[in-house]
Amino acid sequence: MCGIVGYIGKEEASEVLLDGLRRLEYRGYDSAGMVVLNGNTLEIRRSVGKLANLEAHLKKHPLTGHAGVGHTRWATHGRPSEENAHPHRDATGRVVVVHNGIIENYMALKAGLQARGVKFESQTDTEVVAHLVGEAIARRRQAPVPLSPPLFVEAVREALSEIKGTYALGIVSADCPEVVIGARRECPLLVGVGENEFFLASDAPAILSRTRNAIFLQDGDLAVLSREKVLLFSIETGQPIERKTTYLPWDALQAEKAGYRHFMLKEIFEQPRSLEDTLRGRLDINELKVHLDTLKLSEEQIKKFRKMTIVACGTSYHAGLMARYLFESWVQAPCDVEIASEFRYRNPLIGPEDLLVAISQSGETADTIAAVRHAKGKGATTLAICNSVGSTLYRECHGKILTHCGPEIGVASTKAFTAQLAVLYVLALYGALLRGTLPRPDVENIMRNLLHLSRWVGEALKTDAGVAALAKKYFHSRNFLFLGRNLNYPIALEGALKLKEISYIHAEGYPSGELKHGPIALIDEDMPVIAIATQGRVYDKVMTNLEEVSARGGRVIALATVGDTRITALTSGHRLDAGHPRIHGPRGQCGAAPTVGLPHRRPPRL
Ligand code: F6R
Repeated sequence: MCGIVGYIGKEEASEVLLDGLRRLEYRGYDSAGMVVLNGNTLEIRRSVGKLANLEAHLKKHPLTGHAGVGHTRWATHGRPSEENAHPHRDATGRVVVVHNGIIENYMALKAGLQARGVKFESQTDTEVVAHLVGEAIARRRQAPVPLSPPLFVEAVREALSEIKGTYALGIVSADCPEVVIGARRECPLLVGVGENEFFLASDAPAILSRTRNAIFLQDGDLAVLSREKVLLFSIETGQPIERKTTYLPWDALQAEKAGYRHFMLKEIFEQPRSLEDTLRGRLDINELKVHLDTLKLSEEQIKKFRKMTIVACGTSYHAGLMARYLFESWVQAPCDVEIASEFRYRNPLIGPEDLLVAISQSGETADTIAAVRHAKGKGATTLAICNSVGSTLYRECHGKILTHCGPEIGVASTKAFTAQLAVLYVLALYGALLRGTLPRPDVENIMRNLLHLSRWVGEALKTDAGVAALAKKYFHSRNFLFLGRNLNYPIALEGALKLKEISYIHAEGYPSGELKHGPIALIDEDMPVIAIATQGRVYDKVMTNLEEVSARGGRVIALATVGDTRITALTSGHRLDAGHPRIHGPRGQCGAAPTVGLPHRRPPRL
């Protein structure tokens, strides 16, 4: 959750860095800081809490200079405090580092440094990096010779060779003020390319207001930014490397809140547009064809795959779970879905006959990337479904399909999830058409429903006032149960994840058929049950499960298909939100527009 911004150019660095850090605030942080170089001196400012504190500190004690690095920290090693806030410096105070990631062997490195007399100022893992670079510089530099950029680079490489773990680093030295160094291993870092100015950023929104041209660093890359150019080297070999500059299709405006109270709300309301953008040009209902130009896998390849394995984390994993129902049912192809962090540490049976699909909004999730590399190592073909052009997954997978959501800044995934589902629906249709496993009327029906999807989601979003009323009524509850069956089971898991993550309320997602195998014991009026009970093949079964809940005195909040009177009858039937036609039900039953999962007129064959 930390953020890095770096700058070298003609502007006042402190202003550029503060602006960039502000644009990364959405990632969450508990302290912030920056270092600015001014000739052969450097100065650091750090503050605990909001960026406004750092800003106030900078007003009192301004920094002047045209190069530097800044950081927002989310405490991992050591509590949130000024001494643990980044940047960190070496023993001479002339080498300064900001860092995202985790130095896994920092305890051993710290012990070694302390044995050599180094005193530590913080409890962080990052500080070891500053000291190691400082030591490497001292070993290489015959005082009082100035530190040349190549010597600085060599010292950084030497220090990094001792480090195990993950990092995105920004490093400066007061003895080499003409450069800012960035280095990456398993944590995102990009270089923004301007005119006679260059930027470092852990995430694109930090630089979008200044440039749309970026070089995405890859694992093992080291970047040397000066006012005139950026040079890239391999950390391992020191050899120069080339990376192409990518034009970022998002504008700075897309990364603003646009009048919403927070990014997550804005992104929830962006879903109709994001679904429309994601589906645009991909479905041809007249010819009954699906266009997936960036798939880069031949029809022959697709037909021959023995098995498909989906890997992802968190919300993206839930999208994968949902897709399994589609692939098995429509494409009639075996499909495994795995949590990426488990997949990478097993010995999964995957080989050249298999397709691995990696789903990720960011395209930078370390476990998902590791799973892809593992599968590639075993000869499997890989396909990325992601939202970030130029991200690691996008670059490394054989085929790719983009979700066109624009930047997802709210840390909890919302519009990316529904766009992932839309892409997975399209992919399943594509597979079904190739294999001839779905009758043409079904294909047409599903396509028509997908083309209506954006409008329906817009309709469902009109329930917001009623949903807010439900939230007000229930937010004191400490536990929630989310139930769903079939396609709606992954949706129940996702609902529970969102509630936990955003409200800090404990919630569990369950397949409703499992209720009677244990969790029913927990049902009482203090444990609201949110049921996703849209009409479809398993509707009657879900109703039976909800009757069980009701019999135990449980309070049901149902997400149901518009016009469903049976579900309203399940309890006594008073309206929760008289002002809104779609919210009704005694103890919080909520009717919504048809969901993504269920085509409107004819249920899919699931
Ligand atoms: C939850 C959430 C996370 C992400 C997960 C994977 O709201 O956002 O669970 O889904 O960290 O991230 P990506 O999709 O970027 O690989």
